[in-house]
Amino acid sequence: MEPALGTWEAIDSLRVVRAFADRPLDAAAVERILNAGRRAGSSKNLQRWAFVVCRDRDHLRELSTVGPFAAHLAGAAVAIALVTPDPHADGAPLSIEFDIGRAAQNMVLAAWELGIGSVPATVYEQARAAALLGLPAGMHCEYVLSFGYPADESILAAPKRAGGRRPLAELVHEERW
Ligand SMILES: Cc1cc2nc3c(=O)[nH]c(=O)nc-3n(C[C@H](O)[C@H](O)[C@H](O)COP(=O)(O)O)c2cc1C
Repeated sequence: MEPALGTWEAIDSLRVVRAFADRPLDAAAVERILNAGRRAGSSKNLQRWAFVVCRDRDHLRELSTVGPFAAHLAGAAVAIALVTPDPHADGAPLSIEFDIGRAAQNMVLAAWELGIGSVPATVYEQARAAALLGLPAGMHCEYVLSFGYPADESILAAPKRAGGRRPLAELVHEERW
């Protein structure tokens, strides 16, 4: 593991990677990524999350069928399924999703610092994902993250896409909208 980026550089250069090299991630890198998720702050420090780490190629191929835009999972070195209590359950607070989003972004940035790319897969086939991941009743997976070294490493230092993000002038309001 050779960290190369400061926080701002990592945030500013981050982009999704959907094509991965056929190269495994070492155990220390995966542990770093998982710890980055674990270290996220959460509402009332409830930490309502669990992470299912998947590396087996056949399992990854099966997981790539849980949604129409999840094909990248089949080629990932590691997938990490983000598991929470069911956010659709009666009375479930929105903070469940806010918190898991924070954990996910920590993971993605910690990986990027190590030259490891990632991208979420949105789960559309909930029952299928729960069965493939062996989730206990009441637990839910809305997103699975693919991780791996980029197939094309030039993406790590590529210039930003023109128009890739809306300008601040469109987003920021002073005092009132
Ligand atoms: C909540 C969320 C769900 C996403 N789901 C998918 C997905 O199912 N499949 C996929 O290929 N990318 C998915 N993405 C990745 C987005 O398409 C990506 O973040 C966006 O296009 C910006 O890419 P960039 O950071 O490389 O500019 C998802 C991103 C987010 C934040």
